[in-house]
Amino acid sequence: MSITESSPYEMVAADPNRVIIFDTTLRDGEQSPGISLDQGEKVEIAEQLARLGVDVIEAGFPIASQGDFESVQAIARSVSGPVICGLSRTALKDVDRCWEAIEPAARRRIHVFIATSETHMKHKLRMTPEQVKAEAAAAVAHARTYTSDVEFSPEDASRSDFDFMCEVLQIAVDNGATTLNIPDTVGYGVPAEYAKRLADVRQFVKGDYVISTHCHNDLGMAVANSMAAVHAGARQIECAINGLGERAGNAALEEIVMAMRTRADYYGGIDCAIRSEELARTSRLVSRLTGYAVQYNKAVVGRNAFAHESGIHQHGVLNERSTYEIMDPAAVGQGESQIVLGKHSGRHAFADTLKKMGYDLSGEALNAAFTRFKELADRKVELSDADLEALVAEEVGDTLNYTFQLVSVDCRGGSNTTPSATVVIDRDGEKLEASAEGDGMVDAACKAIKAATGIDGTLTGYTVTSVSGDVDALADVALRFNVGGLSMPGRGLSTDVVEASARAFLNAINRIVRVQDSGEDPTKVDRPGSLR
Ligand code: KIV
Ligand code: ZN
Repeated sequence: MSITESSPYEMVAADPNRVIIFDTTLRDGEQSPGISLDQGEKVEIAEQLARLGVDVIEAGFPIASQGDFESVQAIARSVSGPVICGLSRTALKDVDRCWEAIEPAARRRIHVFIATSETHMKHKLRMTPEQVKAEAAAAVAHARTYTSDVEFSPEDASRSDFDFMCEVLQIAVDNGATTLNIPDTVGYGVPAEYAKRLADVRQFVKGDYVISTHCHNDLGMAVANSMAAVHAGARQIECAINGLGERAGNAALEEIVMAMRTRADYYGGIDCAIRSEELARTSRLVSRLTGYAVQYNKAVVGRNAFAHESGIHQHGVLNERSTYEIMDPAAVGQGESQIVLGKHSGRHAFADTLKKMGYDLSGEALNAAFTRFKELADRKVELSDADLEALVAEEVGDTLNYTFQLVSVDCRGGSNTTPSATVVIDRDGEKLEASAEGDGMVDAACKAIKAATGIDGTLTGYTVTSVSGDVDALADVALRFNVGGLSMPGRGLSTDVVEASARAFLNAINRIVRVQDSGEDPTKVDRPGSLR
């Protein structure tokens, strides 16, 4: 199966076993607490999602902020293949704004939602059921004047009165919705009950439409609920890479796809167009850019998902992989590292290798990435594909336009020496230098950076992991820095933990400066959960 130019609705109509994968990493996933991706990062993730083979990318919620609008528009302009979808409330100006953002895409969808549960209508919307019906009708009809691909969601569907929800769904179909999504907004559903709700919707709501799942993970059942619904006839699954999303997250895309493929015997021949070998890479990219680490024992993409500790298991796998592995690690891109570049590799081999990995860098971005590659290759004998991905993720995006660039960090420490650090930072050609002492060398480097940039604040989170898990692996530091209530993530990579920390710290400062300069406060951005 492959992505065709036909609409998802037509694909399912032509092949009833075809399941549409609707990725919401950039919309619901980006609503995870603490995630704030910039435009370049969102486009990079969207490009990787296209490479992965998702059918629909929900690129954002254009009315939420100018930044969201511009990111959705940038994705619509540059990412080809999947349908580009924008989320919209029922207000007609929201629908207009959504359309404006997605219009440049070759294939586009408007996703309209309004809550139908009693508690949401009464306490959040402050609308009567009749008003909700009228809003749904008007918004869907208006969206249809722009595109034939319109999705409708009755928010908090799993806690809505079934008959009322079906009335609203019928209104949506009658006004032109071609996908009906049944969100388990608060993760309240259990598999058999949620599946029955979807099967009943199919029976009671008349018309031609694809039925879709959207499950949250508050009780840890998002994937189980989604798969039960597919078994009951749903043909679109809304999910996010690494299970990102509001609160406990959405159904994890990688788990959905591998459940479908590994248990094809049970699910009866359904399939999707995902290129599963891209799953691990997509997971790593999203983790790196969002600052959300993937737990070691996470299904499918966790570092230990294919690691065997006990002697009995090791013996079994060595004799016959299927004794303890139900999936081939290579099928999800968790195979052995295939790409090895070292300090003798030239720019051409470097660019060529990146291209094979799907990163088409040129010009300044290629120069910057190659310079960093040489620096790292001088200190580490071989760079694996995971190392290269981390490096590219650090160097592309907006980093070239950042205010501050780290020139050097030198530190001293040890059992009998007070830790100290000296940093040199470039700001538009001007060299800023400062030294500081600290509780440790990382603390000293951060203090020196604060002194050099003149930006003060509080470090609110700090984790260091190794990119590939080897002793000589690159250190990958993720942290958060808070300046006057504005909290930003930062990420840095180096063979040296202090340098990786300094890079991460400066990365967070650069993001803060950029937000302050743009005048936009991301903490004030409206999100669906907080909207009327
Ligand atoms: O969880 C939810 O209800 C949503 C809707 C906006 C589809 O994310
Ligand atoms: Zn949701």
